Amino acid sequence: MDKLGINGGRPVRDNFLVFGKPHITEKDIEEVVDTLKTGWIGFGPKSIKFENLFKEYIGTKNAVSVSSCTAALDLSLKLYGIKEGDEVITTPLTFASTANVIVHNKATPIFVDVIKETQNIDPRKIEEAITPKTKAVIPVHLAGRPCDIKQIVEICEKHGLKIIWDCAHAIEAEYSGKKVGSYENICAFSFYPTKNITTCEGGMITTNDDEIARKAEVYRLQGMSRDAWKRYSEEGFKPYDVIMPGFKYNITDLQAALGINQLIEIEEKWKVRDKIFKKYNEEFSKLDSVMTPVEVEEKNKHARHLYTLLLKIENLSATRNEICAALQAENIGSGIHFIGLNLTKYYKENHKFKNLPNAGYISERTLSLPLASNLTEKDTDDVIEAVKKVIKHYERK
Ligand SMILES: Cc1ncc(COP(=O)(O)O)c(C=O)c1O
Repeated sequence: MDKLGINGGRPVRDNFLVFGKPHITEKDIEEVVDTLKTGWIGFGPKSIKFENLFKEYIGTKNAVSVSSCTAALDLSLKLYGIKEGDEVITTPLTFASTANVIVHNKATPIFVDVIKETQNIDPRKIEEAITPKTKAVIPVHLAGRPCDIKQIVEICEKHGLKIIWDCAHAIEAEYSGKKVGSYENICAFSFYPTKNITTCEGGMITTNDDEIARKAEVYRLQGMSRDAWKRYSEEGFKPYDVIMPGFKYNITDLQAALGINQLIEIEEKWKVRDKIFKKYNEEFSKLDSVMTPVEVEEKNKHARHLYTLLLKIENLSATRNEICAALQAENIGSGIHFIGLNLTKYYKENHKFKNLPNAGYISERTLSLPLASNLTEKDTDDVIEAVKKVIKHYERK
């Protein structure tokens, strides 16, 4: 067997394959340059164009652009009046911001366990965790796999709870033939550099509730009356009013320009990632010491944001982190999505959560491999070769 790179052997690749490198095309660059040339680089016409394209793609009544998904989640909690003493139920298997925004709004995050196979929040656990203080639920469509929307909506309607869907991974995802971003009540998206489309930093709120959307537009830009961004346009100076103390949460035209063409090419790029996802599944299902992601039901669509393996660490003489380090030495970047937030310092010290065995199980074993539309066939072949080399090396005989 070839010596591992980490033990001084020759790595599978000569150059490092970055995990989550954004796919930026010449057309994306042209759109950004065009924006620079117009001189209108702040929030303006390209932001509105981006919102309109996004709204159309998702099939929702409203799309309100913001500076990040974190901003979208924070605004959503504010729009629903979440305040001190309230409880918000969410999954521990998520990025820090999903829970941090709950804390910033002085409410209490309540982590409940996930379903082992899908890694998404378990609707039965949501229902068990509801108390008179519960006001909202933030489910996450992890890795781009849709949650059980029907069950979650039924539970939340029964108990009068608001739902804020964290769709950071799930732009293209569908549930029962509809984009996940078109479901009630508010959906929050991310355009961070590693996401399926990127505006460098950026986010979007989608909702079918017109009143919430109009409020979100005011909240995101200092609480100024609508269309205030037009105040210096060729239509002439327009006075504006401040109707509430809002936030500086707007996207800029420079960022939106980057997203416009990517939105046009989104399905084409999804098909490339879908092919890689299936190729990985086929190859890695041949390994005894890893579990490959389960496929979604036919009525649903996975957004193919992350490809995550679960390592059977019982069969291996290395931990997940050691496997990551060994892949790194083969010049293959990888990621971890996620280590349960209930296991992180702040949440462990400040909140009490028990009985999250599935989240704990996944936290120790999950490993994300490069999945992007700019990967070449050689890149994905290298990933497969490196994973097989490393896993076989550490497999207990
Ligand atoms: C599940 C999830 N939610 C929210 C966010 C926050 O997104 P942003 O960086 O756009 O604020 C991320 C970012 O990685 C994420 O993965």
